Amino acid sequence: MKTWPSPAVHTPSMFGLLLLAASLNAQNQSWDTANCTEGVLSVPRGSRAVMTCNISNNFTYITIWLNNKIVFYKTPQGYFRWEGWELQVQGGQAQLVINDTQDVHTGLYSWYLRGCQGDFRNVTLNVSDALIQHKRAPLEAGPETFTGVLVPVFLILGIGTLICCMYHRSKKSPGK
Ligand SMILES: *[C@@H]1O[C@H](CO)[C@@H](O)[C@H](O)[C@H]1NC(C)=O
Ligand SMILES: *[C@@H]1O[C@H](CO)[C@@H](O)[C@H](O)[C@H]1NC(C)=O
Ligand SMILES: *[C@@H]1O[C@H](CO)[C@@H](O)[C@H](O)[C@H]1NC(C)=O
Ligand SMILES: *[C@@H]1O[C@H](CO)[C@@H](O)[C@H](O)[C@H]1NC(C)=O
Ligand SMILES: *[C@@H]1O[C@H](CO)[C@@H](O)[C@H](O)[C@H]1NC(C)=O
Ligand SMILES: *[C@@H]1O[C@H](CO)[C@@H](O)[C@H](O)[C@H]1NC(C)=O
Ligand SMILES: *[C@@H]1O[C@H](CO)[C@@H](O)[C@H](O)[C@H]1NC(C)=O
Repeated sequence: MKTWPSPAVHTPSMFGLLLLAASLNAQNQSWDTANCTEGVLSVPRGSRAVMTCNISNNFTYITIWLNNKIVFYKTPQGYFRWEGWELQVQGGQAQLVINDTQDVHTGLYSWYLRGCQGDFRNVTLNVSDALIQHKRAPLEAGPETFTGVLVPVFLILGIGTLICCMYHRSKKSPGK
């Protein structure tokens, strides 16, 4: 009976070789493993938007597109500013900041992250028209409400006294 080499014999050895190659590769070169701001980022119009991307190696460069238009091209380590965008690349950390977010800044941001390998990431920036909520004054008389009431009262009293004095003075003056 003829025995054919079973594929089951070869599979583990192939797998072993792959594992060996992978571990050898891992010894020399570690993976970038990117971790970025993802999904939809929504900020109130006019406020600050921050998008970050971190990798486990140092960045070689970063390219960023907004709606397929280049915003930053092959940006190396450092701090860069273009129109309303600021990009800081430091080691394995990258941060894109927009101080005053307007419609022109919104849309799909695509990042190409080049460390030891290369990776693409997407994040969408959206502005909302939600008004920035101001804290309401407490209902009980706080210092502000107190002065708010007192100032007009004193003003009325002061003007009243002034008119009174002027009236009395004008009445007295002819008798001088
Ligand atoms: C790892 O690097 C060493 C020398 O730095 C080299 O001899 C070896 O071939 C490299 N291995 C792989 C899997 O790249
Ligand atoms: C990304 O980093 C955050 C902390 O900054 C961590 O909680 C999260 O698990 C990381 N995600 C991945 C996919 O590594
Ligand atoms: C990237 O690193 C910075 C600084 O440690 C951190 O503030 C930011 O949250 C990180 N980004 C992500 C997506 O984890
Ligand atoms: C990143 O670069 C710094 C300075 O050049 C170096 O000290 C550090 O080991 C590098 N880190 C990695 C993960 O390659
Ligand atoms: C954004 O704001 C920071 C801190 O307020 C400031 O340092 C930076 O210059 C501003 N950037 C732009 C583009 O206005
Ligand atoms: C990013 O978005 C573009 C355009 O929608 C799409 O073609 C691409 O596959 C997306 N990439 C990733 C990594 O999600
Ligand atoms: C962006 O925000 C608007 C409201 O300002 C909302 O109607 C729209 O659905 C949002 N888009 C995404 C992709 O979240």
